[in-house]
Amino acid sequence: MNYKNDINYLAMRLGPGDDPEIEVLDQRKLPFRLEYLKLSGLADAATAISDMIVRGAGLIGNVAAAGMYLAAKEYAGRDDFDGRMLHAGNVLKATRPTAVNLSWAVNRIMKEMSKGNGTEDKMAVALEMVRKILLEDDKMTRSIGQYGLEIIREISRRKKGETVNILTHCNAGRLAILDRGTATAPVYAARDEGIDVHVWVDETRPRNQGARLTAWELGKYDVRHTVIPDNTGGHLMQHGLVDLVIVGTDRTTRTGDVANKIGTYLKALAAHDNGIPFYVALPSSSFDWAIRDGIKEIEIEERNGSEVGSISGWHEDGEVAVRLVPENSPVKNYGFDVTPARLVTGLITERGVCKAEENDILDLFPEHK
Ligand code: MRU
Repeated sequence: MNYKNDINYLAMRLGPGDDPEIEVLDQRKLPFRLEYLKLSGLADAATAISDMIVRGAGLIGNVAAAGMYLAAKEYAGRDDFDGRMLHAGNVLKATRPTAVNLSWAVNRIMKEMSKGNGTEDKMAVALEMVRKILLEDDKMTRSIGQYGLEIIREISRRKKGETVNILTHCNAGRLAILDRGTATAPVYAARDEGIDVHVWVDETRPRNQGARLTAWELGKYDVRHTVIPDNTGGHLMQHGLVDLVIVGTDRTTRTGDVANKIGTYLKALAAHDNGIPFYVALPSSSFDWAIRDGIKEIEIEERNGSEVGSISGWHEDGEVAVRLVPENSPVKNYGFDVTPARLVTGLITERGVCKAEENDILDLFPEHK
């Protein structure tokens, strides 16, 4: 590596031992403050997800898994342990509806715990699963990085080493899934290899995950990037300034329809119109194998209108929110949209790159046929 990166942060920290401390990076404060919050019980984990202290499909799954362990710790020794754990799972699943990783993690832990003998043992199983899920995510993002790297390498070769310009939307980085993120993993791998990459970062209103989070973490990795208003991408594409789009996803159907942060669909349309490849990077835990039609079947989270009606930023005294919209004007705040498979060039998974088509996806994941 011929550059200096500084990735001495983790979106979730799980301490060692049988009774580990669990902390999450408070993403509401980034990029202005680096503060960790301790999760002490189920309620803390649920609030961390619903209040977007943590966010991003993968991380939400990790925190939900941690929430299940914390619930098991609270309820260990009680006669009604199983019923309470079922309730805990439902509480966590209800925090945010769109990212499938959340229910995936809860269901996985419930299934493994059911094999345990007695409540203490079930608690230990839950903790073991949290560690396992974190390790798996780590490996999957590295693998996604290597497969995505081949796409970037090819473009770099075609451009004879000139800058490869990649556009991304929202944050699908190390802050959204350990260790390398999904959409960012190929970028980090390209950077490690010395390929000249530059990232156009959509600011991603209303929560500004691009401006606040993606820009911050790319900067920490010493990746060249430029933050743009969300409506700039089409113009850049028309002028040959985007070679490739890579985004993450919160839920992808077995047929390749992709739910991701609101505004992703418009980027896919613009990319399609300009003949620019549009890739989605995802771990297998972001597939919803039970559904085929993303537009009809994926529940889209609606968030509080205050996120649209005002904007928050940092002032020397701390975080401030200022009003943007007239008091009486109604607002709407959909968190996600669905990009139909026909607009997706390919899916970059931990097992390789495939077309956004059921047969191709199932060739990589035959266990879901
Ligand atoms: O509302 P958020 O910040 O949780 O939304 C995050 C996204 O849409 C990400 O792009 C997606 O979760 C992929 S993260 C690996």
